[in-house]
Amino acid sequence: MTRETPHVLVTGSTRGIGAAILASLEGRARAVGHGRGDGPLAIGADLSASGAGDRLWDAALARLDGRIDVLINNAGVFEAVGVDAAAADWQAAWARALQINLQASADLCRRAVLHWRERASGGRIVNIASRAAYRGDSPAHWHYAASKAGMVGMTKSIARGYAAEGILAFAICPGFTMTGMAEDYLASRGGEKLLADIPLGRVADAEEVANAAAYLALEAPASMTGAVLDINGASFVR
Ligand SMILES: NC(=O)c1ccc[n+]([C@@H]2O[C@H](COP(=O)([O-])OP(=O)(O)OC[C@H]3O[C@@H](n4cnc5c(N)ncnc54)[C@H](OP(=O)(O)O)[C@@H]3O)[C@@H](O)[C@H]2O)c1
Repeated sequence: MTRETPHVLVTGSTRGIGAAILASLEGRARAVGHGRGDGPLAIGADLSASGAGDRLWDAALARLDGRIDVLINNAGVFEAVGVDAAAADWQAAWARALQINLQASADLCRRAVLHWRERASGGRIVNIASRAAYRGDSPAHWHYAASKAGMVGMTKSIARGYAAEGILAFAICPGFTMTGMAEDYLASRGGEKLLADIPLGRVADAEEVANAAAYLALEAPASMTGAVLDINGASFVR
């Protein structure tokens, strides 16, 4: 990777873990954020639309003077759909989860790999997956777990495929993390029961996940490529 100040694209940085990642990069990188809509600190791109990942990459590249060194795929949705939903609703929920959580991330990873190959520069990808990738999720979240397992498989494939070109890929699998996403879930499923399942006795802070992401983005040794970090208070140990 270049020795200049690293240029970083962080998706889903308007709140939650993504906002904490942007904060943890402050002073150490030139970072561009992203959300569904345009904002002072974010490029707007609704990743539920086909091709949005490509448009986001182009916009971020323009903002960062034609160079991106690190891609952090963090944007994601956690939306319920039960087996008793109508087939069309079930399929729409699957398509949406896979599009936002996996396909858009894949499209961005593809552009990153092509960019780094063209520049012969190397680069780093950090994919924010989930504990659900390994443990599975609730009966209403098969699609979420599948999208995150896909992300882990994609990360490992990139790590193995392009390490020789200096292109490194890592994933993080957070358990419950205190953001809007987790708060809704804790409220809906009975927070105390869920906390009892976490030996540490609490959910993770967004800053804990963000610091791990910043470490992988800026500092982790190249030999760690392909690694998947669990941040879940020992609620799922593998
Ligand atoms: N929180 C947890 O317990 C937990 C656990 C495991 C894994 N994760 C993963 O960590 C990542 C961040 O989670 P979080 O809890 O910080 O989420 P969050 O607070 O709900 O924030 C989600 C972020 O993703 C963006 N986003 C959502 N839908 C989008 C769309 N259609 N197009 C573009 N951007 C979209 C949001 O942008 P807007 O503000 O514009 O909507 C926001 O910036 C996700 O990938 C999630 O799956 C979270």
